Amino acid sequence: MPFELKHLFGLKDVSKEDIITILDTAVSFREVLERPIRIVPTLKGVAVLNLFFEESTRTRMSFELAEKRLSSEVVTFAKSSSSVSKGESLRDTVRNIEAMKIDVIVVRHSSPGVPRFLAAHTGCRIINAGDGSHEHPTQALLDILTMRDHFGSLKDLRVLIVGDILHSRVARSDIYGLKTMGAHVDVCGPSTLMPIDMEHFDVNVHYNLEDVLPDYDVIYMLRIQKERQSKGMIPSTREYTSMFGLTMERLKLMKPDAVVMHPGPINRGVELDYEVADSDRSLILNQVTNGEAVRMAVLFLLSGGSER
Ligand code: CP
Repeated sequence: MPFELKHLFGLKDVSKEDIITILDTAVSFREVLERPIRIVPTLKGVAVLNLFFEESTRTRMSFELAEKRLSSEVVTFAKSSSSVSKGESLRDTVRNIEAMKIDVIVVRHSSPGVPRFLAAHTGCRIINAGDGSHEHPTQALLDILTMRDHFGSLKDLRVLIVGDILHSRVARSDIYGLKTMGAHVDVCGPSTLMPIDMEHFDVNVHYNLEDVLPDYDVIYMLRIQKERQSKGMIPSTREYTSMFGLTMERLKLMKPDAVVMHPGPINRGVELDYEVADSDRSLILNQVTNGEAVRMAVLFLLSGGSER
């Protein structure tokens, strides 16, 4: 099947075939990352702009590395050192980007929909690196690859996403992508941190973590996203941790072969105990490693490459 996506806004409407193509292409790029010289000329002459209006460690660094490993021309925009802080509008920023002959834009922004706005107003290929509480598709793709690596298949894999579902773009993208791949996904967290339209996601909603921990293969912990919460959504961090934090005691309730995942950044001692994050049940650093290969695959495929 040819890869036909022009932009990656989210995983809601991405087919199983396209997800498999991205994962398989990422696996072939992992081989490049094992070489002594980790660079290929695949995207020579392609100009990529990393347009980050929000903070990022993992996503921005792994996109930058992926772009450099593919030999593309890389420009990185950070809001704090740009003319946005002097009042320049997004529209004008975009018009200036157009004038600089950019081919691909990787964008992170606090407003849902900015990736589609850029696609409508530029001729560039757009990759969403996280837009508000909407979607974070490359995070979900690297999560799905990490689960496929570990379990061999996603079919009927049971995944529980725990925490601040309401504000989580990662939860949305993971639910869409994992369900497309045949996994069973449910969520758990405080009722105040559940979207009111949860029925549209076709998942079961749980409110007691200890009751359901034994039923899943993957426990996917989320950060409490204080930057997107209004006051009073949880009584206190300590109370949240007492009900939804994954401690070593709770880890013992999980299936013997179940694993723990987290998109990062981790709030150690809040959603995850220190020992859980570093335990042999944690795939958190595997997720980070897969991030680079998945982003190489997405850049390559959206720039017109076919499966390698
Ligand atoms: N998981 C993730 O998006 O991390 P960053 O915010 O550090 O990019």
